[in-house]
Formats: sequence, structure tokens, C-alpha cells
Amino acid sequence: MKLKFDVKARDAAGRLGRIEVNGKRIETPAIMPVVNPKISLVSAKELEEMGFGIIITNSYIIYSDPELRARALEVGLHRLLGYGGIIEVDSGSFQLMRYGDVEVSNKEIVEFQKAIKADIGTFLDVPTVPDVDVNRAEGDLMVTIERAREAERIKGELAMNAAVQGSTYPELRRKAAEILSGMDFDIHPIGAVVPLMESYRFSDLVDVVVASKEGLRPDRPVHLFGAGHPMLFALAAAMGVDLFDSASYALYARDDRYITPSGTMRLEDIEYFPCSCPVCSRHTPEELREMPKEERERLLALHNLWVIKSEIERVRQAIKEGSLWRLVDERARSHPKMFAAYKRLLSYERFLEEREPVTKPSAFFKVSEESLRWPTALRAIKRKERVSAGEKIKHPIFGEISVYLSLTYPFAQSEGEESFTIVKPSRENVMEYIRAIAEYQFGKGAGRIFRDARAQMSRKTGMPRQVKAGDKHIATFRPDDGLLTLGIEGARRLRDALEFPRMRVVVDEEAEPFARKGRNVFAKFVLDADPGIRPYDEVIVVNEEDEVLATGQTVLSGREMVAAATGLAVRVRRGAG
Ligand code: GUN
Ligand code: ZN
Repeated sequence: MKLKFDVKARDAAGRLGRIEVNGKRIETPAIMPVVNPKISLVSAKELEEMGFGIIITNSYIIYSDPELRARALEVGLHRLLGYGGIIEVDSGSFQLMRYGDVEVSNKEIVEFQKAIKADIGTFLDVPTVPDVDVNRAEGDLMVTIERAREAERIKGELAMNAAVQGSTYPELRRKAAEILSGMDFDIHPIGAVVPLMESYRFSDLVDVVVASKEGLRPDRPVHLFGAGHPMLFALAAAMGVDLFDSASYALYARDDRYITPSGTMRLEDIEYFPCSCPVCSRHTPEELREMPKEERERLLALHNLWVIKSEIERVRQAIKEGSLWRLVDERARSHPKMFAAYKRLLSYERFLEEREPVTKPSAFFKVSEESLRWPTALRAIKRKERVSAGEKIKHPIFGEISVYLSLTYPFAQSEGEESFTIVKPSRENVMEYIRAIAEYQFGKGAGRIFRDARAQMSRKTGMPRQVKAGDKHIATFRPDDGLLTLGIEGARRLRDALEFPRMRVVVDEEAEPFARKGRNVFAKFVLDADPGIRPYDEVIVVNEEDEVLATGQTVLSGREMVAAATGLAVRVRRGAG
């Protein structure tokens, strides 16, 4: 493996992750500024100092210039650009899309990328523009797949992109994604989407990305080729895009355009800067306008870079705290076409529900009518029906719920226009709450595991804590989200109460002793898993005999952990010994 990708946290279909290649690391989602090896408006070294740990440049431009080519071959790409971070190179495919032709073969450009010691290469995929005849799209795709096979043979130690093509045909995108997922590549960009973004066809972009993501394996990072406007970052990240690249910071600066997280302004129209980056805090719009072109262009490019960087960091923070949908909702208000794209994404209910965590560190905020279509809301409205016991109370966001769910995510951890008042349990009815939470969380029948159990109550908060049967630990009530974590006895009972494979993650015998000792479970050891498992679910780790080995919290959904060959599957809390 040349490139390592780990997922640390999730929100919507997005991932907070880490990429490691050739000993260098970045956090994702990440933005790669595009460095033109011929024009240095902002040098690669400055980009590195600004905190950009990955950049992208074009190996075809270097290859086509005899002087640059000779120097790159002599000193290597990193010294050529004066940059110590991760350098990804593109192949000339974009030029192929724009001008219809390039003067290099797939083999030549991949060999060249190896020779100049790029960190991540890209073979010469064929980007098919939107709306072409389906036969053309399919024919182009066959060429891309052939080139993928050639690249796979010759890439050696070079980590490599394999771009998903297929024009505006979702079926072709999905098929391309499936084929490339079966091959030895490291990152999957989604290609030929620049024309969609340039014409504000964001809903079509959503269709293309979702179709591609459905076919892609979950353990590789996904790059949206040519997406560099920060307005798009939250929406794209919510679909599971991990990497972006931006030439726009420089292209816009050349045209005196000023990027904001919700759009682009012309410098001539700006009276007040809505930003406090080093450029905007030291200069007024008036001062910038009066500067010589070259100086102004450079400062605008720097501002654009700061904005792009801070939006990426905002997206990371949102994933970490579980507020990505709120950010998407907010950014969707930037442009009617963005709003349409947001609603299009929400229409992919199954795609989204499968990837949505079952709990979040932050409360559900009903900030718009669309919030009710977020997967968390739809799931809560569906799952609350699992609980028939108890008096019904009215929840201002989610409708009628059993009083016994009034401590539990997202019912208690929500903010709407009207407040919801939690009904706390008493010593007498606390086990009704616990049973209801188990049914809501694990499914019908799960409440049975508490038949002879008692809950300890916190004197300070009045909330349940540990639930035990005699001295056996069945479960623990988690006050932050009102859900349960399982003890080993609880996991055994849950296994007996739920039919196989419900809530199980089945691991192979190599992983068994580690899981028993309470060590984490990695996807490569997972043989099978309940397809109903969602990210952040509390699950039962078992062997092939259905013996309980451990319990813990998932990072991946059931289907994802079966499909993934690498990465963490279950954060184990307790091993069975
Ligand atoms: N840059 C923008 N779009 C594309 C694409 O589809 N393929 C490659 N290789 N580079 C791109
Ligand atoms: Zn600024």
C-alpha cells in the first residue's frame, strides 16, 4: 500500500480522515492549491508556509517544456517546486478535455510521473464532457479503463489516482466506480465535472457524485476534480468528497475577483471586506484597487487562499462536531442553484441514511424546513415507532414519541422553535426507559435483555447509569445522547435476543484474540456484518460460531466494513476475555 487513508469521524456521508503518503500526512477533507509550474503568483513554498500540506501540479505542462522537463528529471519535482509536502500531479487529461488532444501517451506520462518522484500520480483518463451521446460516453470510458489497466501494471511504487468518468450517465459512473474499485489504486477522483460547475449545474453534479460514490469502495479517498470554490465544499463533503483542488484562487485573482464562502465578488463592488485574513485586515478595498495590477493580483490570490483554507477547516470542524448538515443548509442559501442541489442531495434518502451516524456530539438544530429531511430526522421518525410502550408525548420537531424516549438522541438533543421538556425517569419506571431505548437503538425484542436487571441512578442528575443483573454488567446509559453501550453480558443476551446477523460484526480467527483483549477491529478482519449497522452504532463483535468477543462502536456501516479492505471498523470498548 502506497497511500494510507484513515477515517477518524463521520457526519452526513462525509468523513474526517487522514492521508499518509511517503511519510507525509494531511487531514481530510483537504484542498490542494493548483501550482502552475510556469507562473508563480504564490510560490509552492509560501503555500507550504500557509499550511497547505498538499498541492497539485500538472506533469503534462512540465513534460511539454524541455527546460522544465530536464530540470524536473534532474532534481525531482519537490526541489523543482521548492515544496516539502505531498505533491499530486495531473496528467494532461484536463487539456485533453479542453483541446481534444495531447502530445503524450498514457505510458509516457505515468513513467514521467515516476521519474520526477511525484507523491501521487494520475494516468491519462479520458474526461467525457456532460450530455454527450451515451455511446461516446461508453466508448471513452472503455479507453479510460484500458489506460487504468496499463497504469496499474507500470506505476510501481507511485500512489495513483483512478478517475471515475461516464459523463452525465449515472449508470456509467457507477459502473466505472465499481470497476476501478476492484483495481489497485489509491484515490478516486470524480472527473469531467468542471463544465457542470462552470455552468452552475450543481444538481447534476450531485447526481454524478452520488452515482460515483455508490460504486466506489469506502476505504479510498475521493477527489472532486476541479472543485475549488469554497461555496461547494460543505455540500461535496456531505456526499463523501475528501479532496478538492483549486486553481480558482489564482484565476479569479487575475480577473479582480474576491472569493467568499458563499460566492464571488468583484473587487470594484466591495466597499467593506467581509474577511479578516492578513490581506483584508491590512488593506482596504480602495487601497487594493489602487495598487499596480501585479501586486493586487497577488494579494487577491492570497486572500482567496485564506478563505478556501478556512472553509475547509470549517467543514472539518462541522464533521467533528456533527453539524455538517447545518453548514450545508447555510451554504445552500448562497445561490438558488446551490439550494436546488441541496434538495437534490436530500432526495437520495437511502444513500444518505446508510452513511449517517446514529448519534452526534452536537444537538439536532432545526434551522429550516429542509432540516426535517435530514437523515437523522427521517430515521428518528421511523425508529420511534419501534417503541410502543409508555405514554405518548408531543415533540415539537419529531411529533409524538413515547415518554421513555425523552432522554434519547435526537429527541432530547434538539433545538427547534419551541422547546421540548424532558420527562425524567423515576426509580419506579427507569427500567421502562432502558427497555425502550434498547428497542429504539437495537430493534424490536432488544428490551428482553433487561428481564432481571436494575439500573443505578445518579444522585446528582437523576439519570440512569449502569444497568446490571446481579453483578453482571448488561449496559451503561450514556447521558450525552441517552443511548446505551453494552456490557459483555448485555452483548451475549442481545445476541440471543436478535436473530443472526442483527447488530453483529463477524471477524476471522486471526482477529479473535485481539478483539477478546479489547483491541480495535479493523475492516480487513471483518468477514460479515449486519447490513443494518450504521456508523457509530453499538455492536456485538462475534466469531464465526456467533460467540461474543467484544462490544464497541462502529466507524463504518455494516456494508462498508465488509467492502473495505483497510481502516478501522469498530472501536472496541470491552473485550470478552
Ligand atoms: N481535471 C479536471 N477534470 C479532470 C478529469 O476529469 N481528469 C483529470 N485527470 N484531470 C482533471
Ligand atoms: Zn481576506
